[in-house]
Amino acid sequence: MTKFKSINESQTVLTELMIPSYANFGGKVHGGILLSLMDKVAYVTAAKHCGGYCVTVAVEGVEFMHPVEVGQLISLKASVNYVGRSSMIVGIRVEALYPKTGLVSHTNSSYFTMVAKDENHETIQVPGLILSSEEEIRRFYEGLHLKNLSKQKREMLKSDFSTLSVEDIKKQIIKENCNFI
Ligand SMILES: CC(C)(COP(=O)(O)OP(=O)(O)OC[C@H]1O[C@@H](n2cnc3c(N)ncnc32)[C@H](O)[C@@H]1OP(=O)(O)O)[C@@H](O)C(=O)NCCC(=O)NCCS
Repeated sequence: MTKFKSINESQTVLTELMIPSYANFGGKVHGGILLSLMDKVAYVTAAKHCGGYCVTVAVEGVEFMHPVEVGQLISLKASVNYVGRSSMIVGIRVEALYPKTGLVSHTNSSYFTMVAKDENHETIQVPGLILSSEEEIRRFYEGLHLKNLSKQKREMLKSDFSTLSVEDIKKQIIKENCNFI
């Protein structure tokens, strides 16, 4: 296996036209359509880096700030930002282009964690990343933080709140949008 690979060896751009069957009842494109395209481009990018099979393990930072319209051309620009032993964080920038006006808007950026596996579904080591610019070094560092933060988040979600009394919980959520009957 190649020990280290550059980021541009696996960089991928996927472009797709938003067609009417992708729309929801409000006439905008379903978020799930975009998620599926993001998963596809993350897979292609990670598979090119590790040279084999990989699976989607986690998704971070999916926020749809602007609606995507039917008729727009969506480009998903993906690159491997960080690699650990078996995991790869793929950063995806989604841009929407209106062919009529040529206007391009940035709709969202997200991070997909992909893990390389062998034919027995065991996790395997992936090539390291060659970092050749300040931006690539910064993105790798961000990826490392993202990996650590998502681990902390998972541990927090596993917390056992059953030891707290319901009266204590009520005090903490009293200003939230709920009512006790
Ligand atoms: C994710 C999975 C590989 C973890 O398996 P595991 O035996 O616990 O393996 P490890 O703890 O060694 O983790 C492997 C890597 O995944 C990372 N990882 C594990 N869980 C993670 C999570 N929830 N979020 C982000 N990264 C995660 C680890 O940090 C580790 O990275 P590293 O090797 O670069 O250090 C396993 O749970 C799995 O196969 N899940 C199903 C994935 C899948 O099928 N996806 C498609 C859904 S249809």
